[in-house]
Amino acid sequence: MNLHVTVLGLLCFCCITNAAQILGVFPFPARSHIQLGNRILKELADRGHNVTIISPYKEKAQRKNFNQVLVENVFQKSAEMKSDLFNHVNYNILHRVLFLNTLGINFTELALNDTNVKAFLKERHHFDLVIIQHFNSDAYNGFCYRYKAPCISVSPLPVPNWFSNKVGNSAPPSYVPQLLVSYSSKMNFWQRIFNSMVYLLSEISHRFYLYPEQNRLLQKYFPGAPHLDELYYNTSLILYNGHVSVSDVSPNLPNTIDIAGYHVSPPKKLPEDLQEFLDNAIDGVIYFSMGSNLLSQDFPISLINSILKIFSKLKQRVVWKFEGDLPNRPTNVLIRSWLPQQDILAHPNVILLITHGGLLSVIEAIYFGKPILGLPVYSDQGLNSKRAEEAGYGRFIRFEELSEESFEKVLNEMIHNPTYMSKAKARSRIMHDQPLPPLQRAIFWIEYVLRHRGAPHLKSSALSLSWYQYFLLDIIFGLIVFCGLIVMVLIAVWRNSIFYKPKLKQY
Ligand SMILES: *[C@@H]1O[C@H](CO)[C@@H](O)[C@H](O)[C@H]1NC(C)=O
Ligand SMILES: *[C@@H]1O[C@H](CO)[C@@H](O)[C@H](O)[C@H]1NC(C)=O
Ligand SMILES: *[C@@H]1O[C@H](CO)[C@@H](O)[C@H](O)[C@H]1NC(C)=O
Ligand SMILES: *[C@@H]1O[C@H](CO)[C@@H](O)[C@H](O)[C@H]1NC(C)=O
Repeated sequence: MNLHVTVLGLLCFCCITNAAQILGVFPFPARSHIQLGNRILKELADRGHNVTIISPYKEKAQRKNFNQVLVENVFQKSAEMKSDLFNHVNYNILHRVLFLNTLGINFTELALNDTNVKAFLKERHHFDLVIIQHFNSDAYNGFCYRYKAPCISVSPLPVPNWFSNKVGNSAPPSYVPQLLVSYSSKMNFWQRIFNSMVYLLSEISHRFYLYPEQNRLLQKYFPGAPHLDELYYNTSLILYNGHVSVSDVSPNLPNTIDIAGYHVSPPKKLPEDLQEFLDNAIDGVIYFSMGSNLLSQDFPISLINSILKIFSKLKQRVVWKFEGDLPNRPTNVLIRSWLPQQDILAHPNVILLITHGGLLSVIEAIYFGKPILGLPVYSDQGLNSKRAEEAGYGRFIRFEELSEESFEKVLNEMIHNPTYMSKAKARSRIMHDQPLPPLQRAIFWIEYVLRHRGAPHLKSSALSLSWYQYFLLDIIFGLIVFCGLIVMVLIAVWRNSIFYKPKLKQY
């Protein structure tokens, strides 16, 4: 296995691509998104490419070959939205679909209208490749047009129909769950009805709302650009944050590459007090974090008290990412406003992750082989949690259904039933059993696109069909007409034959 990796590594180096000018467009102000773009682009910079990234987080340290265009005006909006996130549990499905569209449109415009970005676009630059974030932000394809460079999209979500039509993948709603449903890929009749309905809703909202708006932004900020339709399907490669160990199995064309796990770094040393707290937890540690956008301190106070009461009865120690103060917390609970999640999950004493079900957290849990208890609130969190339950390494309680009884029951079940841990370990082995580690795979394919000037040979002919051709509707229609004609001819022949005796009218 190790030899395998080395040989492949050497092969990669032999065909190393000349240093290229690469632009990364990752302006969405969420740590989880920027982590994805940054990791890839920094790796490319370390390999000698000259990288420029459009992003909202200022790099602390200078890095060789790594230039930044700072997007400044997106934070106020994201801060306004954060406090509102828990309300999503009350949204109906239409509201949830439209929310993601509007979110994408609003932030795309904020980024394109940013002073630094506008100035950067006015300057003269040359890029050999543009890597864009794919998050309801299709106007960013304008950057590829502006620099006449091949386009690579990075999807933070592994949900196939989020990106499949861009390259001509198929993702039928019969077995591919939609982003906003909490179903596994094995759906019963009613679930398939709902899943297909959400699929239709998303398609319609994209066709009649999202794309026209994105096209408007494209025309406004990239004057002279062709219609979005022309750029949208001109994507050389999709890198998506999924893998069979994390997401459902679905068809992928050769230019659709799964890279989940690539953002995880080898564990670093923990702060001393934290290390000691974890080392001395003989009965194990439960790590509890709702991620960077949902804050535990915004939980209803009664819920916080119930949770603390349950924790106080445990033999295990608990590390909770809690942003405020909890003066009455039991001694086995440690709180911090920020915690090195990956390094904590790597610790052998950690036996469970309680999480909002965000994709990166789920990937990290699988990477380190820890079971998860999901408390999903919005977006893909329900879907991720459901998958974990289906695969046997997790359980979930919808946040709106969370009560002292339900939480205590599931928590105790997960602590005392060893199958969750063994399933998590099995998943982890699947994730690590790959010919190339995911980050290396991403780099290989990016440089492949560079070497083959956009790699047009990877393009599916599905993209040159219109939708009725794709679904064979023209042929079905033709067949129906043809069969109809034959039937009519046969009837006519029958009526004129000697065997045909017209019924006589009875008087
Ligand atoms: C790297 O890219 C930046 C543009 O973002 C450019 O200003 C700089 O000259 C480039 N450096 C090299 C060595 O090509
Ligand atoms: C998008 O912007 C519009 C107008 O500024 C605002 O009404 C809407 O609430 C915003 N939606 C989201 C999801 O940010
Ligand atoms: C774009 O930014 C300018 C300030 O730089 C602001 O006045 C204008 O309202 C913004 N336009 C949109 C559509 O956000
Ligand atoms: C499509 O992408 C290729 C590079 O992959 C580029 O040469 C071509 O100009 C692009 N087409 C349009 C319409 O932008």
